[in-house]
Amino acid sequence: GNKCAGFVRFTEVAGTVYVYAEVTGLNPGQQHAMHIHEFGDATSTDGTKAGGHYNPEEKPHGLPSAEARHAGDLGNLQANAEGKAVYRGEFENISLAGPKNPIIGRGIIIHAKSDDGGQPVGNAGPRIGFGTIGVANPKQ
Ligand code: CU
Ligand code: ZN
Repeated sequence: GNKCAGFVRFTEVAGTVYVYAEVTGLNPGQQHAMHIHEFGDATSTDGTKAGGHYNPEEKPHGLPSAEARHAGDLGNLQANAEGKAVYRGEFENISLAGPKNPIIGRGIIIHAKSDDGGQPVGNAGPRIGFGTIGVANPKQ
């Protein structure tokens, strides 16, 4: 029943991963948490098979502004009045395929509520959007 849809693109250049996302079907004017979760398993309708936040360094949860945070903590999408969000972020604590906290094959999750940076996982509520991070065809 969730209407959340869109894409999240990860591009790595010289040790920095640039994240760009366009997502529709969000609650107008609201923030929605977005995280990389441990597993790219999309076979549950509630997103729970994605496991917890991707956290190979066993750090506390945090927003992108926090020094100590999970590798998967991407912060929040900000939906406009039409329920659409455009997100841009830059991260140096992850990589696409290693050696530093590789993300390909893991899950990307969008939550019903905002991430408030609180422990253990930001109080972000149910999982309303899910994808598996894979390799895109550069010709499409
Ligand atoms: Cu999450
Ligand atoms: Zn986290």
